[in-house]
Amino acid sequence: MRGLKDGIIVVTGAAQGIGKATVPRLRDEEATVLVADRNGEGAQAVAAEIILSRGHAEAFARDVSDRRQGLNFAAHVQGRYGHIDGLVNNAGVTCDGEGGLHRWPPLPDPCHRG
Ligand SMILES: NC(=O)c1ccc[n+]([C@@H]2O[C@H](COP(=O)([O-])OP(=O)(O)OC[C@H]3O[C@@H](n4cnc5c(N)ncnc54)[C@H](O)[C@@H]3O)[C@@H](O)[C@H]2O)c1
Repeated sequence: MRGLKDGIIVVTGAAQGIGKATVPRLRDEEATVLVADRNGEGAQAVAAEIILSRGHAEAFARDVSDRRQGLNFAAHVQGRYGHIDGLVNNAGVTCDGEGGLHRWPPLPDPCHRG
């Protein structure tokens, strides 16, 4: 991850796990990170940590499988930043551990429509 200084990078599913771990790496590259997750409080907490450490971030409570939310998000980003330079399309649901197959139903939404 090099050459992202001043870039506008969206990370979906950024409230925890792989997405959350990716955000400070982007901060270290001096990118502005748009922290998006359906868990809005989690996204806020991740963005707040970046801002506290003098990075640039903005949090969005956004379900990537919801088209209307996607259009609103795109309109906000276009208006405020004008463009994006990168997308970490990470939001998704894993089917590991307890529960297994019964967790399948939510999988196609973020993975196919997100
Ligand atoms: N962890 C693994 O071993 C592994 C392996 C293969 C693929 N993946 C994929 O990598 C990605 C991240 O995995 P992880 O282990 O960090 O998962 P995780 O469950 O720890 O985190 C996923 C994040 O995505 C968010 N999210 C889920 N659905 C969303 C939606 N519709 N809209 C917005 N946000 C949504 C959740 O709120 C959560 O914050 C997932 O897409 C997963 O399928 C993970």
